[in-house]
Amino acid sequence: MDRKTHWEDVYRTTASPALEWYQAHPTLSLNLIQATGIQKTGRLIDVGGGDSTLVDHLLEQQFGHVTVLDISGVALERAKARLGDRANHVTWIETDVTDFHSTGTYDVWHDRAVFHFLTEAEDREKYCETMNRAVSAHGHVIIATFAYEAPPTCSGLPVVRYSPEFLTLAIGSNFVFIESFEELHTTPEGTKQPFIYCRFTRRKP
Ligand SMILES: C[S@@+](CC[C@H](N)C(=O)[O-])C[C@H]1O[C@@H](n2cnc3c(N)ncnc32)[C@H](O)[C@@H]1O
Repeated sequence: MDRKTHWEDVYRTTASPALEWYQAHPTLSLNLIQATGIQKTGRLIDVGGGDSTLVDHLLEQQFGHVTVLDISGVALERAKARLGDRANHVTWIETDVTDFHSTGTYDVWHDRAVFHFLTEAEDREKYCETMNRAVSAHGHVIIATFAYEAPPTCSGLPVVRYSPEFLTLAIGSNFVFIESFEELHTTPEGTKQPFIYCRFTRRKP
């Protein structure tokens, strides 16, 4: 089964609160976004945002330029339906991030639980090239992945598990590590999923 089919099936067959990665309040993501110091006029992208509630909170906080990208059109439609008219204030992009060619730049690139699905070096290279082109000169990157001690699969797919040091190496020398936090996420079925969240800034020339 290809990636898109996998994710469309997951979203077609599972209600949001039953998704294993579901968070009603993405506290750590919001804290890290705040820590970037991004202005309300800044541009943010939630890569692989799916039907995450992060976008709801960003709109509540009056961010004016929010983009949500996901491979699953079903997930994006669900997020739009939840937001109602507020969805018109968001840019929605349905694509595989490894095929994404950004036409603009973003001040914050946020990814929770997407990069870790890229188990092929070629896909990670494409992701990093895209991110490198898409993040503005003073931009920030926030990536959350499974930690070393997490299960080897997520949503039934194999994942690469990271430490902050390994993730810093993986995203390349254009970004400078700033800080990392751990989070022990509990799935609706009670499985523990240790995550790391890392924040980076673009390296100054
Ligand atoms: C584990 S879920 C996390 C969703 C969301 N970031 C959150 O934290 O609630 C992974 C998400 O990434 C999307 N995804 C997986 N692979 C992708 C890819 N190659 N390009 C874009 N989106 C992808 C899936 O459709 C799904 O919405």
